[in-house]
Amino acid sequence: MSTQRTLSRSQRLNQITHEPHGKLDALVKAHAPFETQASYARFVVAQYQFQSELVALYNDAQLTALIADLPARCRAEAAKADLADLHTEVPPPVAGAVKNPTQAEALGWLFVSEGSKLGAAFLIKRAVGLGLSETVGARHLAEPAGGRAEGWKTFTRILDALPLTEQQEAEADKGALAAFNRFTVLLEQAYATELA
Ligand code: HEM
Repeated sequence: MSTQRTLSRSQRLNQITHEPHGKLDALVKAHAPFETQASYARFVVAQYQFQSELVALYNDAQLTALIADLPARCRAEAAKADLADLHTEVPPPVAGAVKNPTQAEALGWLFVSEGSKLGAAFLIKRAVGLGLSETVGARHLAEPAGGRAEGWKTFTRILDALPLTEQQEAEADKGALAAFNRFTVLLEQAYATELA
């Protein structure tokens, strides 16, 4: 017997990305980023590249009209400062960054980037074990001003209230899945490349 209820948009995005999230979680762990600072630096390279590819979305005027604090949510600068703390050069861009997504697709990407702040609550505790903190080397994993849970609730509340067409719903799904793919590519590349 089915007791299916209508999912909110953010719940649906959560559901359709459950599998890629699990795989990415396992991939992150397979690279043991919290064993050594050298391994962690590669993880930060991927985080920086992912965030820097999303700068245009976080600063998009139309998206900011929907989500007022969107520009402040971006972590590209924090990740860049982390790289400097780790004496790691800013990596060059990797081909294949998101380009001119539709607004709904962009929301899917932002859902993933914002959602990753939840997992970061666990990751920063591990980073502390490497002698790092929210002011040195692990800034991009820091709790956002106003709190992690609050920031996420505000984001999903806005996302869930937007009127989207069926096609836009599909675009949001596509964006979220593409974001997980992209992070996976960047992570694999970061661990396959010699660090400068
Ligand atoms: C690039 C995107 C993401 C990356 C790299 C990522 C990475 C991770 C990792 C490595 C963990 C495990 C932390 C640990 O056990 O020490 C984790 C946990 C978690 N992540 Fe993500 N995540 C991403 C996106 C998301 C999204 C979109 C959401 C929510 C919609 C999310 C929600 C969570 C939550 C709630 C946890 C806590 C434990 C759990 O339920 O598994 N993450 N994440």
